[in-house]
Amino acid sequence: MCGIVAYVGHREAAPLILKGLKRLEYRGYDSAGIALLNGHGLKVYKKKGKVSDLEGELKDKELKARIGIGHTRWATHGEPNDINAHPHYSTNKRLAIIHNGIIENYAAIKQSLVNKGYSFESATDTEVLIKFIEDIQTNMFCTLEEAVRIALHEVVGAYAIVIIDEENPTQLIAARKGSPLVIGVGEDEFFFASDATPIIEYTKEVVYLDDYEIAIVKDNELVIKNLANEDIAPYIETVELELEAIEKGGYDHFMLKEIFEQPRSIADSMRGRINLDSASLQLGGLRDYLDKIAKTDRIVIVACGTSWHAGLVGEYLFEELARVNVEVEYASEFRYRNPIIKEGDIVIAISQSGETADTMAALELAKSKGAIILGVCNVVGSSIARITHAGVYTHAGPEIGVASTKAFTAQVTVLSLIAIATAHKKGTISQDLYRELLFGLDAIPAKVEKILKSAEKIKDISKLFTFASNFIFLGRGLNFPVALEGALKLKEISYIHAEGYPAAEMKHGPIALIDEDMPVVFIATKDASYEKIVSNIQEVKARKGRVIAIVTEGDTLIPKMVDFVVEVPRTNDLLLPLLTSIPLQLISYYIAVLRGRNVDQPRNLAKSVTVE
Ligand code: F6R
Repeated sequence: MCGIVAYVGHREAAPLILKGLKRLEYRGYDSAGIALLNGHGLKVYKKKGKVSDLEGELKDKELKARIGIGHTRWATHGEPNDINAHPHYSTNKRLAIIHNGIIENYAAIKQSLVNKGYSFESATDTEVLIKFIEDIQTNMFCTLEEAVRIALHEVVGAYAIVIIDEENPTQLIAARKGSPLVIGVGEDEFFFASDATPIIEYTKEVVYLDDYEIAIVKDNELVIKNLANEDIAPYIETVELELEAIEKGGYDHFMLKEIFEQPRSIADSMRGRINLDSASLQLGGLRDYLDKIAKTDRIVIVACGTSWHAGLVGEYLFEELARVNVEVEYASEFRYRNPIIKEGDIVIAISQSGETADTMAALELAKSKGAIILGVCNVVGSSIARITHAGVYTHAGPEIGVASTKAFTAQVTVLSLIAIATAHKKGTISQDLYRELLFGLDAIPAKVEKILKSAEKIKDISKLFTFASNFIFLGRGLNFPVALEGALKLKEISYIHAEGYPAAEMKHGPIALIDEDMPVVFIATKDASYEKIVSNIQEVKARKGRVIAIVTEGDTLIPKMVDFVVEVPRTNDLLLPLLTSIPLQLISYYIAVLRGRNVDQPRNLAKSVTVE
């Protein structure tokens, strides 16, 4: 949460930083700000609202500068307003800071500064941090770098920070713990950002700062040190990301682009892993761990939100194919219980961003108890990808729409691969089923393509439900997590209240909600629970609910019973979520657009939840 961008070099800093902030707006968009340093001194400009509101504010300002820092905020401490927006000045206005994260002990530090006579304009923990650094520098007569190091020893919490200093016009100092920070290394220029997207236009050479590291750029030189002041040799990596992957490419919204990218993102998540000629499956990332996964009698999956729903699909897959016990835990609950994890247990974290604070903390807890921790992440080099013992990347490409779509299907694809590989290793599936699943997976992208051709039909159905105030999503078996995901998608981008339930649970309560105004989406494919779900549909129709059903191509029974149908092609039952989730994404998208919502940046949300 919160996006940070900083630049020092030979280019105009302001347009570069503002463009970078727009790329990071998915991380937070309730206020934005920029600090620029030039011959007229250090100037901070900030504004409640989006980066475009800040740009409006900057129109008539003198912005020429070759060094600057910028921030787009998702409020944690203090409401979103101009004052709480970053950057924050030190009292003497010599320093300014941008910060992503939370300083947990800020209240105690603030009190000690207040006792010394400091006053505060904002309600933020960030202003406390910069004034704390200022106080150390003033009283200990040390350099800014030393003051930052001393301050960070005292700080509890998470941070990625960049500090600019009026008295050192070629210097930026950055540090990280728990929140991501990437440094772009160009020709006589350096970039800092929360992820690589603001940087790749200028350089593909990056350094991922690690926890407890401080980066100092001065006079065109990058030095990295740890908090003990020991030098660390910068490890420069080349990012693979291409510019078009982070642009809308003619679509109205990133979300729509990402929904339509799924044939490719699913294929990319399998590429090089499935070999149909030899009917085999290789997961290089798990090379040293597949044996252990096959031998364990228990797998724990930790995740949040949509990734948690993917985890529920994984539970069905592992249990069905590999006959192993699986528990799927909300990372936020798991970390605060005293979970029973024993040496050698397998804990798998699923995370698109690889930065979700609760998922990270759950993994750290599991690791401390001796578990083998594995990751299914989308962002290469992300914190979760780096702390896990091993893992499998999803290769969905950058997901910029805040509502997760292609990351979900990529996660389900990868979990299918891991479950199939485990089952094959254990010998719990026949060679025929193994082959059928591999060929089935290979055929999924073309089937998704086919479903996407129904987009116009789905849009027309969505028009009839634009002003609904509630929705229920029902499914059974592997389609139950899809129902949960359908409900989450709808509520987060359209703000319509929606619930997902296992279809049979309806009778135990939610059925009381059914009347002629209640839209019910059934995921009613021809799978093992088909007859059962047909009965559930009848129960809803008997109470005059309006039913949209996601059915298998060629189904002739359900279309006669319900108000609207969307067809999906046939596939093995175990692979159905990869198809049935697509129409639900489109329904949510079109309803949200028709309601005039900002689908890419829904209110109160942020893409990467780096606070607990
Ligand atoms: C919903 C959504 C969120 C995320 C959740 C976990 O559309 O995107 O529910 O799934 O915040 O994020 P990651 O996967 O980055 O750990």
